[in-house]
Amino acid sequence: MGREIENILDILNFYKVLGFKELPEVFLSSLLKGEKTQNTHSKDKLDKTLTALNEEIRICKKCILSKERTQAVCGEGNANAKLMFIGEAPGVDEDRQGRPFVGEAGNLLTSLIEKMGFKRQEVYITNTVKCHPPGNRDPLEEEVSLCFDYLKREIEIISPKVIITLGKVATYTLMGMKGKIKDIAISKIRGNVFLYKNIPVIPTFHPAYLLRNRKDKWLTWEDAQEALRRLK
Ligand code: URA
Repeated sequence: MGREIENILDILNFYKVLGFKELPEVFLSSLLKGEKTQNTHSKDKLDKTLTALNEEIRICKKCILSKERTQAVCGEGNANAKLMFIGEAPGVDEDRQGRPFVGEAGNLLTSLIEKMGFKRQEVYITNTVKCHPPGNRDPLEEEVSLCFDYLKREIEIISPKVIITLGKVATYTLMGMKGKIKDIAISKIRGNVFLYKNIPVIPTFHPAYLLRNRKDKWLTWEDAQEALRRLK
């Protein structure tokens, strides 16, 4: 219990250092709810709920990304996963194949997952935004907020023990960061653990960044080890 208070104080302090004037709703609800929403549903029920959500995502036309996509890209993996990875948005390869993280960055993510001792199909992999932004641009704040409802529901269904956010878009979204605060580099945020609805969130670099900056891979490996410690 004492340790938990210490963790929460660390998070509060880091929000302050980042320049937050108020605590974001996603963090406050962690404090107020107190308990993790552990999923007690059967695997069959979870698969069905996830399939229904994915049907909605596939026909979504909430934002302009739906106009240029080949297809929406839903999350994939084990509906009972203890570990969930959240990326930014599908790239060109993912848009073509309809699956998350299947390009070069995806291969790097798969090798990280395997190094952590899992098979890719044992974890759950998804994106903050489900459609490919044209020209591989960053998703706009409005696109992220329109898509966030799908991600919230995915997290609720999977109910993982630990979430690893890959890169700034997923990290800022789960941390409730908006506006100017988003200028802060992910390198300043990683190394800290946050809570999203009482689930520990471990921010790390996006695999596409690591392909360009291989020297930082060891930092992501440190983040992965923190995730493994929390899964034990
Ligand atoms: N980058 C992402 O953020 N997600 C993918 O699915 C692929 C590349």
